[in-house]
Amino acid sequence: MSEKTALPEYADTLAAFHRAFRRELCRAVRAVPLTSGAAVLDVPCGDGFYSALLARRLRPFGKVTAADRSDSYLSAARTAVAAVGDSAAVEFVKADAYHLPFDDAAFDVTWCAQSFISLEDPVRALMEMRRVTRPGGSVAVLEDDDLHRVVLNWPVELEMELRRAAVAASAAKYGSRAALSPARRMRQFLSDAGLTPRGKKTIAADRLAPFGPAVRRFLRLHLRDTRAYLTDFLKPAALAALDRAIDPDHPESLLKRPDATVTCLTTLFIAGR
Ligand SMILES: C[S@@+](CC[C@H](N)C(=O)[O-])C[C@H]1O[C@@H](n2cnc3c(N)ncnc32)[C@H](O)[C@@H]1O
Repeated sequence: MSEKTALPEYADTLAAFHRAFRRELCRAVRAVPLTSGAAVLDVPCGDGFYSALLARRLRPFGKVTAADRSDSYLSAARTAVAAVGDSAAVEFVKADAYHLPFDDAAFDVTWCAQSFISLEDPVRALMEMRRVTRPGGSVAVLEDDDLHRVVLNWPVELEMELRRAAVAASAAKYGSRAALSPARRMRQFLSDAGLTPRGKKTIAADRLAPFGPAVRRFLRLHLRDTRAYLTDFLKPAALAALDRAIDPDHPESLLKRPDATVTCLTTLFIAGR
């Protein structure tokens, strides 16, 4: 994949997640301690979903700096922010999260959402976020734990097989069983970076069948990604059960069952500088 020409493979699923759970994600942004004139860094900003929400919260005097190393994502972020009419309040900067091109203490708040799988050295990245945040300011991290991020009411046996396979896949692909679970290690990461963990708030988004189009799209992409990631680590019976859950025409499918439910869990950590 070229940084200049393509968004990462997860981009569609992440965008679908934003759309399906926008209400709850707005609530997470509202829980960040912010005053209207604040200077906020959103890093990495990805498609600008949170940059736009932060800019709206800071109206009319605040300023968001949206930073990412990907030109494609910066371009998508510009489009997202322009679409809600907040371009004047957001500056876009191409930047490496480990070497931010900003002065010490330049921001009141630094916001970082769902990026600690991409940022392989979380403590080094958090130390850099700490550097650019003013003393007395905050670093706000929105993260999740892949083992219980998307909670579905499918058969218990399938759930247990998927969890076992997820741990094995993480160890094989990333060299660590906890690689996809940044939220469960976040408090330690924050402390190790010299920040003071102040609060943790888990945001639960519940949806019941019949799901609307945004939730259906997110589930389809999420289940497709889950299958691709776990195929080599699942026993044949579990893979067959997963395929039945994914197939929208199968009566056991979560996309068809009238009693299907989904809960998405994501956690906001606030740390003081
Ligand atoms: C999973 S996305 C999350 C984006 C956004 N915060 C969101 O929640 O939608 C991870 C982002 O990290 C960016 N990224 C990865 N490594 C980076 C680095 N070293 N410096 C800056 N951005 C980086 C990618 O380009 C991508 O936009």
